[in-house]
Amino acid sequence: MLSTIYSCAVVGLDGEIIQVEVDYNPHGMPAFTVVGLPDAAVQESRERVRAAIRNSGLQFPSKRYTVNLAPANLRKEGPAYDLPMAIGVLASTDQAPLERLVGAIFVGELSLDGSVRHVGGILPIAHSARQEGFEVVYVPEEDAPQAALVPDIDVIPVRSLGHLVEHLYDLQPIPAYVRGELDTSIPPDLDGLTDFADVKGQEHVKRALEVAAAGSHNVLMVGPPGVGKTLLARALPGILPTMSLEEALEVTRIYSVADLLPADKPLIRVRPFRSPHHTVSEAGLIGGGSWPRPGEASLAHRGILFADEILEFGQHTLEVLRQPIEDKVVTISRARVALSFPANFMLVAAMNPCPCGYFGDPVRECTCSPATIRRYQQRLSGPLMDRIDIHIEVPRVNYDKLTDDRRAEPSAVIRERVEAARDRQRHRFRGEARLQSNADMGPSEIRRFCQPAPAGQQLLNTTLRQMQLSARAYHRILKLGRTIADLADSDTIEVPHLAEAIQYRPRKLLY
Ligand SMILES: Nc1ncnc2c1ncn2[C@@H]1O[C@H](COP(=O)(O)OP(=O)(O)OP(=O)(O)O)[C@@H](O)[C@H]1O
Ligand SMILES: [Mg+2]
Repeated sequence: MLSTIYSCAVVGLDGEIIQVEVDYNPHGMPAFTVVGLPDAAVQESRERVRAAIRNSGLQFPSKRYTVNLAPANLRKEGPAYDLPMAIGVLASTDQAPLERLVGAIFVGELSLDGSVRHVGGILPIAHSARQEGFEVVYVPEEDAPQAALVPDIDVIPVRSLGHLVEHLYDLQPIPAYVRGELDTSIPPDLDGLTDFADVKGQEHVKRALEVAAAGSHNVLMVGPPGVGKTLLARALPGILPTMSLEEALEVTRIYSVADLLPADKPLIRVRPFRSPHHTVSEAGLIGGGSWPRPGEASLAHRGILFADEILEFGQHTLEVLRQPIEDKVVTISRARVALSFPANFMLVAAMNPCPCGYFGDPVRECTCSPATIRRYQQRLSGPLMDRIDIHIEVPRVNYDKLTDDRRAEPSAVIRERVEAARDRQRHRFRGEARLQSNADMGPSEIRRFCQPAPAGQQLLNTTLRQMQLSARAYHRILKLGRTIADLADSDTIEVPHLAEAIQYRPRKLLY
């Protein structure tokens, strides 16, 4: 007897419906074959399915079974097909009611005792299920809150194969998961984060970080050891604007596929802060693997990618970031598929000006030779430098400031200004789904939204000539000027706004 069960694969960030056909032949030689491009983990499903069925007090007759996973051209990986295969076997052997399996998607790993275990990528799976018109998804119990982020589809949390069978026969129905309210309007909990108020001095650095946060611009901090670069970068999430529900769902989907969602918090509401170690591989940074998974650049989507000690990263590793910084998406090509993952992050980088760390420091003498310094700084290539809107020097904090007990401005107050500036941007970009912040503007939007006042244009022309800026740098100054004007609640980009933006461009190297 043949039965067809529906399940779902995750391809990139999307779900793709899979048909699991199980053919039971009571007259054939005992065998259990899986066809349809299954990987090793799917082959292992056979053992789990067999044991789980028997240990749930159900029958697994030693006869011939053929399982076909369709479409055949899509590689099936992982243990998520255990549950649909088991249900298929049960339906083919008259131990599950076929009519209850229509319009339903099943996903879940089985353990040998029949309990159903967590699988990754539930959010895109539930999303595709609804899009394709399915009415119900059966998911591992702990993944139900994640599936329930998708509206208008019944989510049935399954604890074990035995429970599921009783549910299908209406012996002991499992109630559908009850959705909570999805709300991102209350600012998320940022406890445990360093507050800007606790960072002494560095007022101009804080101002630059405020501008960066307001428009999602890239920042590079250069300074001697121990002056607060890492400290400030880690405090930065505290002044970022709260995510809209749309953004939160985008980010959550990436974490769902990377299988990094905490079970108790299905919706990610705090902007990501990713701080990969400088030994990170290229694949770790932008994503990869034979079946591509999102990398740090995508895990930092809508948040911060912090490259501390940026010059310690492999030269080639850094250069692969150039494409996502420009396109805000990572594209990975493999023999069978080309996948893309969103990667719209704010790059925050920190470095010392030279190997000993003290070049330009008024107190401690630098022991590096000019040639060493030049070689060191040249590790940050021109094209990468060009993509960083804000370059700031972080100097030593003088003793008086460090011992001053007065608290500086708290993060919460700065965040209010950042939120206000983002509100202006949202208003400006309403109806343009692609644009969330000024940094997202492309050339045509820059022409539309970033016309400077006449005096500002003059200043720009002079600067363009004097600093020999690239077209990209010119555009980046305009976008930055737009953000500074937004912080000043000004509709027009005036001379002071542009002057501040220009001042954030990199000087010729620092010697
Ligand atoms: N401006 C500051 N206000 C308060 N504390 C500070 C400040 N700067 C540094 N500190 C203290 O010094 C410690 C080290 O600072 P941090 O790690 O940010 O230095 P850094 O600039 O990243 O140095 P390195 O170049 O060596 O990485 C902080 O954890 C903090 O305790
Ligand atoms: Mg540091």
